Parts: sequence; structure tokens; C-alpha cells
Amino acid sequence: MSEDRYLTFALGKGRLATKTLALLEEIGITCEEMKDKNSRRLIFVNEEKKLRFFLSKGPDVPTYVEYGAADIGVVGKDTILEENRRVYEVLDLGFGKCRMCVCGPASAKELLLHHERIRVATKYPVIAKEYFYNKKHQTVDIIKLNGSVELGPIVGLSDVIVDIVETGSTLKENGLQVLEEICPLSARMIVNQVSMQMETERIRHLIAQIRELL
Ligand code: PRP
Repeated sequence: MSEDRYLTFALGKGRLATKTLALLEEIGITCEEMKDKNSRRLIFVNEEKKLRFFLSKGPDVPTYVEYGAADIGVVGKDTILEENRRVYEVLDLGFGKCRMCVCGPASAKELLLHHERIRVATKYPVIAKEYFYNKKHQTVDIIKLNGSVELGPIVGLSDVIVDIVETGSTLKENGLQVLEEICPLSARMIVNQVSMQMETERIRHLIAQIRELL
């Protein structure tokens, strides 16, 4: 396809977007407009390279990419697993490394060991269900929360949580620990399935450049 078509990137707002832009800058792709921290604009264009960037909530990135509103997205593996969209995952960007874990007080170890019907609080019900039902064959009650999930076992809402652990300090400061590890996580690049066919050259070239850097 012609180079006249804009290639659109959807980036999850926050640290992932900042790191992605730093990475793109290393391969000569810049977007000066995006660096203005005070700006409330959501979409930015690099006219010279025919690129567009927009910032969205992380969980919406795979949605934009699946529907072709963005050709390329950068998002955490946790979001990819949870949203389960039809997109190609093409590259592990190596940053944003953390782990998806089952966590709780030490006393919950026994409950896990004996496959008790426990309550699991999480922002990631799809990942929690897949892990407990399909991998561990343990029936549990999953309670969806929207953040500060560590509160679950502390206030008696749940026995354990399924959540992201990075440094482990949130767990430690709240008297909780990792009980089981579900999977490692990091930032990934995803691509729309049609874009991959229509813009193969440009996308492959981009992936190759980033891969070389990593
Ligand atoms: C994430 C995650 C943990 C914490 C883990 O929460 O849900 O709470 O970070 O990081 P740590 O191991 O380095 O302490 P986030 O800050 O995204 O906020 P949230 O609780 O509202 O999801």
C-alpha cells in the first residue's frame, strides 16, 4: 500500500506510552507534540513519516487495534490476556516487567493447597477464571474490583487476590505475600490483522528496527 496512508498507533496512557515513545525515538520516530505534559490533546501526528499516535486507557488499546481504528498498539500482556481480542501479538518490548500472581495472607496457603472454594478479588476476572478453572481445576468465586485490590483479604471481602506484582512493596506494606505465580508480564506490541496484510512492509520494517534495538 502507498506510504500516503497514516499508520496509527494506540498507546496505553502513562508509563507505557512514555517508554514506547522513548523507544520509537531511538529509531528516529519522534512526536514532539506528545511530549508536552500539560497538553490534554489525545491525538498527535508526525506528518513527515505519516504516523499518528493516540493515547487511550490501557484496556481499550486491544479494542482499537482489533477494529482497525489503530494499526498498532502497545499494551501490557495482562491487558492482552484479559481483553482477549483478535490481534496479532508481534513483539515483547521487554519493559514494564512484572508478574501476575495469586496473593494473600500466609494463612491462605492451606486453602489453595486443598482446593477449597475460596473467594478471589481481582481486576482481571478472565485471567483469574482461566487460571483457577482451566489450569488448577479449582472452583472459586471471582469478585471483580477496579483497583486497590490488596484491600480484598484485609477487609474480609476475599481470601486471596489475583493481581500484578512488580516490586512487591504493596503486598509487603499490607501484610500479604505471593502465594502462586500465574505468568510473567511485560509490554507487548500488537497489530491489527488486516493492517498486517495491507501494510506488511512498513510494519515488518518497524518491528525489525525495534527488535534490533532490544
Ligand atoms: C498495581 C497492582 C498492585 C501494584 C503492584 O496497582 O495492582 O497494586 O501496582 O506494584 P508493586 O509490586 O511494585 O507494589 P496500580 O498502582 O496500578 O493501582 P491499582 O491498585 O489502582 O490497580
